[in-house]
Amino acid sequence: MDINLNLNSSAPSVADILILGTHTKTEKKAKKEVNVPAMSGWFKDCKEALESLAAAADFTGDAGTSFTFDWEGQRVLALGLGDKKDFDAEAARRAMANAINAQKLLVKSVAINIDTMTVKGNLETTLSAFTEAIHLSLYDFDKYLSTKRTPKLKKVIFDSKAKKTAAKKLEQAIKEATLVSESVNVARDFVNEPPNVLNSESYAKEVLKDVKNIKGVKAKVLGKAELKKHKMGMFLSVNAGSAYQPQLVHLTYTPPKATKNTKHIAFVGKGLTFDTGGYSLKPGASMVNMKFDMAGSATVFGAFRACALLGLPVKVSCFLGMTDNAVNALATMPDSIVTAKNGKTVEILNTDAEGRLVLGDVLTYASEHEPDAIIDAATLTGACLVALGTEVCGLMGNDKKLTNSLIKAAESADEYIWELPIKKEWREDMKSNIADLKNIGSNRFAGTPKAAAFLENFVGEGIPWAHLDIAGCGDSQAHLPYCPKKGASGVMVRTLVELVKTTK
Ligand code: BES
Ligand code: ZN
Ligand code: ZN
Repeated sequence: MDINLNLNSSAPSVADILILGTHTKTEKKAKKEVNVPAMSGWFKDCKEALESLAAAADFTGDAGTSFTFDWEGQRVLALGLGDKKDFDAEAARRAMANAINAQKLLVKSVAINIDTMTVKGNLETTLSAFTEAIHLSLYDFDKYLSTKRTPKLKKVIFDSKAKKTAAKKLEQAIKEATLVSESVNVARDFVNEPPNVLNSESYAKEVLKDVKNIKGVKAKVLGKAELKKHKMGMFLSVNAGSAYQPQLVHLTYTPPKATKNTKHIAFVGKGLTFDTGGYSLKPGASMVNMKFDMAGSATVFGAFRACALLGLPVKVSCFLGMTDNAVNALATMPDSIVTAKNGKTVEILNTDAEGRLVLGDVLTYASEHEPDAIIDAATLTGACLVALGTEVCGLMGNDKKLTNSLIKAAESADEYIWELPIKKEWREDMKSNIADLKNIGSNRFAGTPKAAAFLENFVGEGIPWAHLDIAGCGDSQAHLPYCPKKGASGVMVRTLVELVKTTK
């Protein structure tokens, strides 16, 4: 996608369609209050053209609506933005996504008059939101279709009267939003890939290929022999029934001017390329879509690559625990007791609670690199969907400052997050009678924070840690016009990037 900025413009750029924003306002007409489209910043005769049509068409500029018409041979899309006071970055993202979705198969180029739809008068915020909306809405996983759904739309021009002196920072806003959105789309691609293509070994290879040319990034992969050396008994137990090697991908990004005071954030991701449940086999219907059980790893990887590409002044490590959870004669049986990397013994009462086993050992490994904070992401519990629905990311942790900054970051990124407590009773419930811990609680209640209570045991002493359960929000977010109706959502990548951006 070719995105251009045309400043100091007095006339619209040449394009197949011109998009102008229309807020809605209330007017008194014949003693009655009616909503009408407000067209501030519109070209006079274009405004008149719409005014003459809008009344007949009942177009009021409401959010989620639009009106297309011809103005002296130019196709124009009046984009409904709703009430001006409610028009924030998320409203802008959604409005632009609606416009792009409607036009992407029809036109080759669009000119967007951003002066008619600025978010709180800030052109940088506006351009970031629109650029994200464009890249995220154009995403389509059609690689396995014989007939592709390739969009016709190839060129976007943002028109503004703003002076050319603003060019540098506005171009930068477009560039940064592009890098972040592309990283969201990389994460989506990994999640959507089927399990007969994406297994732990091919996944690790693809990740290495992706980061190969990113400045400041170093990569290494630990296979079965290294995991044995590190005594990662929990991780290995999940991989026992697999035809593929477990892979622990360890990436580090070191910023250009790093000093010993540079902050260090570690990401950890659950990378179950498929979760059959193991011997505690999932019923057929629950097993479908378990290719997405690596979404946590794809999310943190997406965020990691964005941080590196943006050249943020924070050291970021990324630890991806990859395997599938399969069944064969060697697969781990329920009742097994294994020893974790940190020496704790764990009774495995349900092989379907495998994510915490992989993450536990990876959290210990990450802790050894002494980061200032660890954040993990995982499609960890079905219980998270029961607690928070399919739209909200579950957040838990051992450090209020860290969980609060994640809540703030999610707010800035307009992504939904909610913190759940970890109670001492739940920590107790994760203890086994014959081993230090067991991998499931004694009943089905509080399944999400109990999983976190388990994970907490593997975080190094004194390290602030937060856990994101993306079991719901990792999958399609059909209510968002910039998310595909089916498949991976890629949500939380933007939140994590925001967190690193605001790390001091
Ligand atoms: N990958 C699943 C969690 C999951 C389930 C994510 C449904 C998205 C939708 C995880 O490995 C799992 O199976 N967890 C079990 C834990 C239980 C056995 C304590 C679950 O949620 O049922
Ligand atoms: Zn499972
Ligand atoms: Zn799982």
